[in-house]
Amino acid sequence: MLSRRPRRLRATPVLRSLVRETPLAVSDLIYPLFVSEVITRRTPVSSMPGVAQLTVEEAAQEAAAAWAEGVRSVLLFGIPAEKDEQASQAYASGGIVQRAVRAIKSAVPQMIVITDVCLCEYMSHGHCGIAQIEGDHVEVLNDASLELLARAAVSHAAAGADIVAPSDMMDGRVAAIRLALDDAGFENTAILSYAAKFASAFYGPFRDAADSAPQAGDRRSYQMDPANALEALREVALDIEESADMVMVKPGLPYLDILWRVKERFEMPTAVYHVSGEYAMVKAAAANGWLDERAVTMETLLAFKRAGADLIVTYAARDAARWLREG
Ligand code: PBG
Repeated sequence: MLSRRPRRLRATPVLRSLVRETPLAVSDLIYPLFVSEVITRRTPVSSMPGVAQLTVEEAAQEAAAAWAEGVRSVLLFGIPAEKDEQASQAYASGGIVQRAVRAIKSAVPQMIVITDVCLCEYMSHGHCGIAQIEGDHVEVLNDASLELLARAAVSHAAAGADIVAPSDMMDGRVAAIRLALDDAGFENTAILSYAAKFASAFYGPFRDAADSAPQAGDRRSYQMDPANALEALREVALDIEESADMVMVKPGLPYLDILWRVKERFEMPTAVYHVSGEYAMVKAAAANGWLDERAVTMETLLAFKRAGADLIVTYAARDAARWLREG
């Protein structure tokens, strides 16, 4: 009797490595950095152990350290000193992100610098677009916001960003940004669109880190309903039509089904965002001795790759780089 025995190929580490289907490499990782204008030195984010808000100089040092460990791209978020209702600092040439891009590019010229294009950190009300607020009612204005987003993207490109990543979820923003970039002569600046971004409770710790929680209302009129997968595919299709070069699914682990479908359907360079809440949960469990942080993190990153991600945005990028090196 012939027997099929899958365990034959699992007998030793070397044998397992020969039949491993999914590679995970340090070059798959995108490392987010929070650059702040309101601090004078590195300030840890309590809900995200290991993550800190950085000054511009510290961000350049952090990028250089990550580069030395094999990390090849960073994603920048800015915390401005001044917020207003037009998000002026989001597109100021001397704004915090614009300065950080220049500092990182001058410290590590080859580092791929991606900038998050959004208005929430720069708006006094914390919404991702221009908002009309009456009591509890918040109306986020789509088309008026596009102009500001496009200005922010152009200012990032002018500072030297390689890739701009709109995360606001306004309709039509990829097209608006592409047109504005081309008009300004930045035809080679790529767009990584947060195409399927869900209104998720997993962003909680990020809003501490980026000081971007909405003052009234929530983001459900622009971010997606967690119940909707087909709508996610339509969102991605629209962004590709509008000329997104890469697309992102966010959050990560709770949305692996979306990631898989997006990669299968569109075959685009696809990123996933392993978001703050996912990161914080593992840190908290590990601190209690309930989970093995390294094993769980590496399994999670591998699962993203298996589900179709080409790129993974993760706060654990430097840890993962070390663990990959240690083998
Ligand atoms: C900005 C933005 C958010 C995240 C990335 N870009 C927060 C939000 O949409 O409220 C979340 C990232 C994370 O949780 O790690 N709009």
